Amino acid sequence: MIQKIGVLGAGTMGAGIAQLCLQKKIPVILYDACAEPLCAAAGRIKEGLLNAAAKNRISQESAEWGGQNVVYAKSLNELSSCDLVVEAIIEDLPAKVKILSEIEKLCPQAILATNTSSFLISKVGEGLQNPGRFLGLHFFNPPVAMKLVEMIRAPKTDADVFEEAKKFVEESLQKTAVAVKDTPGFIVNRVMRPYYLESQRAVLGGAGISELDLAARMIGGVPMGPFELMDLIGLDINLAITKTIYEALNCPERLKPQPIQEHLVSLGHKGRKSGKGFYLYKDGKLIGENPEVAVAAPGDGDFSDGEAWEMVIQAVIEEAEMVLKEGIASRDDIDRAIKLAMNFPQGPLEWKKNANPL
Ligand SMILES: NC(=O)c1ccc[n+]([C@@H]2O[C@H](COP(=O)([O-])OP(=O)(O)OC[C@H]3O[C@@H](n4cnc5c(N)ncnc54)[C@H](O)[C@@H]3O)[C@@H](O)[C@H]2O)c1
Repeated sequence: MIQKIGVLGAGTMGAGIAQLCLQKKIPVILYDACAEPLCAAAGRIKEGLLNAAAKNRISQESAEWGGQNVVYAKSLNELSSCDLVVEAIIEDLPAKVKILSEIEKLCPQAILATNTSSFLISKVGEGLQNPGRFLGLHFFNPPVAMKLVEMIRAPKTDADVFEEAKKFVEESLQKTAVAVKDTPGFIVNRVMRPYYLESQRAVLGGAGISELDLAARMIGGVPMGPFELMDLIGLDINLAITKTIYEALNCPERLKPQPIQEHLVSLGHKGRKSGKGFYLYKDGKLIGENPEVAVAAPGDGDFSDGEAWEMVIQAVIEEAEMVLKEGIASRDDIDRAIKLAMNFPQGPLEWKKNANPL
């Protein structure tokens, strides 16, 4: 039974996963290689627990319990009593392989998991003596608020290890688990690639970025159009994920990184965080379109906004159909994952069914 959790890496995701466990009254040992992020995580977790109590999401007593049941560890040895260790260090394959093989020796009975976004689970676990007790647990940011966890079963993951981890995710953390095969981008990052790429192709064909974002919201009912979403995620992070998936799937034309985004990233226009992305921002507020988009995309087609949106959502539906056909996840899990991760009003496969009810 999973009763004590170790988390490796005290950054955005590690601290978030730790807070989530504490809110569910599961003791945590949080480790980082550096003292500074560990100290920052302690402040963020304390504040997060207090905020959750102030908003009545947890009781005052639970917030206090959380503060008393987290250990900020500077040595991996301190994690030896954990039943599950979730690795959430930087997205660097050799660093992940190394730390997991170290923790495997210290925790001979524990289930080990990685929160990697872009590497295959089998690659991250390739230094393990016993890959049977290793799987992917892909949390979304922020882990406390996001309902979804993608659970990735690598070819060598033992069935009972997967089931025990699933029980923990669903019953102890009260999250929605979707089961995914160990393939590039899992469900969400793979199915959503065309959302970002096809919209840029539409702009190359003459569609406007704010018009397409508006059509996505007004016609599609989604919370954010593709360009405002890329600006929020960070154009550089989004491009890196695209490149990894594109290369891992042997460079299919439909998933090819797009020149507009590459041009913007090369200029340091990374989205909201740098004040310039597809849009321009002042004091955190969107003030207009970035003129550099037109430099990379002097589109002169005659797309209507509705046609551009149709082209984008159709490409997302087709990617979801491929994921289904490739046996990566079930129909329900694909739809569930996209609805929960993206706040879409329906999943891509439901979208198709509802558009063509016969
Ligand atoms: N940020 C997201 O939205 C998000 C979402 C899902 C998954 N992920 C994945 O989660 C993981 C962590 O991402 P993040 O955004 O929290 O990163 P981050 O940069 O915020 O934090 C990474 C932490 O790892 C620590 N670290 C680096 N090398 C280490 C080592 N060898 N040993 C121990 N600690 C080490 C760093 O000091 C840092 O505190 C990555 O694999 C990422 O792909 C991120």
